[in-house]
Amino acid sequence: MPRPLIYVAAILLALTVVPMACIVKNWYSPVKAATRIQIVPDMDDQPRFKAQTANPFFADGRAMRPWPAGTVPRGMLREDGRLYRAIEPDSTFTTAFPLPVTESLLSRGRERFDIYCATCHGLGGAGDGVTHRRAEALQQGTWTPPTDLASETVVGRSSGHLYQTITNGLRTMPAYGHQIPPEDRWAIVAYVRALQRARNATLDDVPEANRRQLR
Ligand code: HEC
Repeated sequence: MPRPLIYVAAILLALTVVPMACIVKNWYSPVKAATRIQIVPDMDDQPRFKAQTANPFFADGRAMRPWPAGTVPRGMLREDGRLYRAIEPDSTFTTAFPLPVTESLLSRGRERFDIYCATCHGLGGAGDGVTHRRAEALQQGTWTPPTDLASETVVGRSSGHLYQTITNGLRTMPAYGHQIPPEDRWAIVAYVRALQRARNATLDDVPEANRRQLR
C-alpha cells in the first residue's frame, strides 16, 4: 500500500473513533456540571427519589412514602372475612361455607385439587401422590409424608382450618394462597370434604337400589 494512503486511512480512523469514544465516555461518566450527551434520552432525567433513601423534606425523613391509612388498591377490597380469611368476627375458624356448595363448585374443586394437591396427597387424598412415591423411592430420609386427607384428624378440622392450610401451608407443606384464588380454595375444601365422605363411606351411603351391585 502506498504510504500516503496509509496516512489517510489512519486519519480517517482517528476521526471516526475519537468522537465515538468521547460520546461513550460522557455517557458513562457520573453527572457533572456539563450536560451529558444523550443520544437516546428515554426517561433518563426524571425528578424522582431513590428507593430506601433518606429525605429531609418529609417529617419522618424517609423518601419512600407509606400508604395513607386505610388505602385499598382498586379491586382489592376484601371485607368479607369468612370468604377471604375463613375467620369469624370473633377470630375463630369459619365452620360454614361462605359460598353455595353446588355441583359446579365441586367439579371446579376436583379440577384444582388434581392440579395443586394430588401431586403429593394423591388423587384420592390418601397421601400417595407421585411426589410422595418419588421421595420414598429416593430414601433420603428428609421427606415428611403428606397427611391422609380422609384421616380422622383432617375430617375433624373445620372448613376454615382447611382453607387456612391451603392459604398458609403447614409445617412442611408449602402455602398456596398466592397461586389459588380464594373462591378456588373453597372449591378445593368442598372437594376434600367430598373425598372424605367417599373414603369413609358406609353401606348406608349407597342408595338401596345399588347395594346389590356392591356385593
Ligand atoms: C408438595 C407437597 C404437597 C402439596 C402439593 C400439598 N400438600 Fe398438603 N400436606 C403436605 C405435607 C407434607 C403435609 C404434612 C405436613 C406436616 O405434618 O409436616 C400436608 C398436610 C396437609 C393437611 C393436613 C393439615 C392438618 O391439619 O394436619 C391438609 C388438610 C392438606 N395438606 C391439604 C392440602 C391441599 C388441599 C392441597 C392442595 C391445595 C395440598 N395439601 C397440597 C404436602 C403437600
